[in-house]
Amino acid sequence: MAREKIFVTREHIIPEAIAYLAEHHDVEVWKERSAPPRDLLIKKASECAGMLTEITDVIDKELLDQTSTLRVVANRAVGMDNIDILEATSHGVMVANTPGVLHESCADFTFGLMLSLARNITYGDRQIRAGAWKVFDQIPYLGTDVYEATLGIIGMGLIGTAVARRAKAFNMKIVYYSRTRKPELEESLGLEWRPEMDSIFREADYVSLHMPLTADTEYVVGPRELGLMKPTSFLINTTRGRTVDPKALYEAVSGGGIAGAALDVTDPEPIGIDDPLLTLPNVLISPHIASASSATVRKMGQMAAANILAALEGQTMPSCVNPEAANQR
Ligand code: GLV
Repeated sequence: MAREKIFVTREHIIPEAIAYLAEHHDVEVWKERSAPPRDLLIKKASECAGMLTEITDVIDKELLDQTSTLRVVANRAVGMDNIDILEATSHGVMVANTPGVLHESCADFTFGLMLSLARNITYGDRQIRAGAWKVFDQIPYLGTDVYEATLGIIGMGLIGTAVARRAKAFNMKIVYYSRTRKPELEESLGLEWRPEMDSIFREADYVSLHMPLTADTEYVVGPRELGLMKPTSFLINTTRGRTVDPKALYEAVSGGGIAGAALDVTDPEPIGIDDPLLTLPNVLISPHIASASSATVRKMGQMAAANILAALEGQTMPSCVNPEAANQR
C-alpha cells in the first residue's frame, strides 16, 4: 500500500492509534491540546488523504470545497454533528464514527450523573470543600431515590439501551421515545414505548437524553418540554448541549419547574464561568467526559485509525456512515 498523508488533530489523546497509523502512512499531528486553527485545518485537508478528527473540528462545505486529496475523515466520537455528511458524500469523502465501543462507558457515566444529582453527592462534596459541614445534619442533603422511579429515555440507540439495562437492575419503570420502535428491547428489558416525546417529559422522574444532535433535535428541549416535566423531576443530558435551550433550563430549575439537571454537555462548550446555570446548587455539570474512560478512549482511537486504514486500502471500513461517497470519486 502506498504511503499517504494523514493529519491527526490532537497528539496527546490517542498516541497508540497514531503510532499504529504511522506504521502505514505519513502522519502529521497537531501538538497542542486545543483544536488546530481553522486555516490550518483547511490547509491540511487540502494536502492529506485522511484526517482523524475530534468533535471540535468542523468539517463543512468551505473546507471540503478546498480539497481534492481528502478521501476519509474518521471522527473519534460517535456523534458527528461537526461534520456535514451530505457535503462530504457529494465530495466523495467517506466519514466514519466510533459506535459500539463507548456505549457502556457512557451509560455508567449517565447513571453516575443521575445518582450524584438525585442524592446530592456532588453537592455535598461542594459544601464540604466550602467549609459548610459544621454539624451532623442530613436534612439539607435529603435526596430523591433512583430505585423504582420512572426513567424516561429519549433515543434508544446503543447508549440508551445500555442505560436501560442498568435501570432494570434499579427496578425502574422505563419509558422511551425513539425514532425507531424497538419491540425486542421492550420484550427483553420491559421497556414501554411512547409514540410522543411529550409523554416522556410528563411521566418520567428522570429524563435522560440519548438522541444525536441533528437539525431535528437542536433545542428540542425548550420551555414547552421543560414545562411538561414534574417539579420533582430531573433532566440528564449526555448527548450534545445544543439539544437543550440553556435559558429555558435555567428558568425551569431556578423557578422550581423541575428539581434539577445534570449535564455532561453544555451550550456553549466549555460553559462560561459566569453562566447562570453555575449559580444553581441543583445543577451538576461535568466537562463532556461521559465516554472518557482510559480503555474506551483507547478503543475509540483504534477504531478511528482502523477506519482510515480500511478506507485508504479500499476495504470495508468498520463504521462508515456514508459508503455511497465512494461512488462519487
Ligand atoms: C462524544 O461526545 C461522542 O460523540 O463520542
